[in-house]
Amino acid sequence: MAEDLIISSGTKEEQYKALIPQIKALITGESDLIANLANITAALKEQFCWFWIGFYLVKKNELVLGPFQGPVACTRIRKGKGVCGSCWEKSSTLIVPDVEKFPGHIACSSLSKSEIVVPVVRNMEVVAVLDIDSNQLNNFDSIDQVYLEKVVAMIEW
Ligand code: SME
Repeated sequence: MAEDLIISSGTKEEQYKALIPQIKALITGESDLIANLANITAALKEQFCWFWIGFYLVKKNELVLGPFQGPVACTRIRKGKGVCGSCWEKSSTLIVPDVEKFPGHIACSSLSKSEIVVPVVRNMEVVAVLDIDSNQLNNFDSIDQVYLEKVVAMIEW
């Protein structure tokens, strides 16, 4: 059975440093991918209270909505479309300080103001993206990138 998450305070980096071992413990020994993705989104949402967090999984030629926390979201995104589809195409993390300034941004909610999307890469291929939306402008930076890339690297795909 999963232990309760210990929510930490401090700088953003301190929060990630406290959370990552807990995420590792949550997913270690569980082989079901969807269960692990669901718990990762829950743990990150509980710690950081972002507006929306979720995975989109590459299925055939589209990204399809996977486990997430937050309001309902669009279900399918084509390669190259929006921030998620661009992250998939470029196979690199995208930080968007103001979503209204990102050409082609897909607005699942008008409350979303800034966004970070991190690719999950296995055998040189993007297999999913981790998408996080904030209701504040300019909420994500290289600290989020470093630690979120560590989180997705821990997932056994
Ligand atoms: N804003 C994303 C779409 C997904 S939602 O934010 C949940 C994009 O432009 O790809």
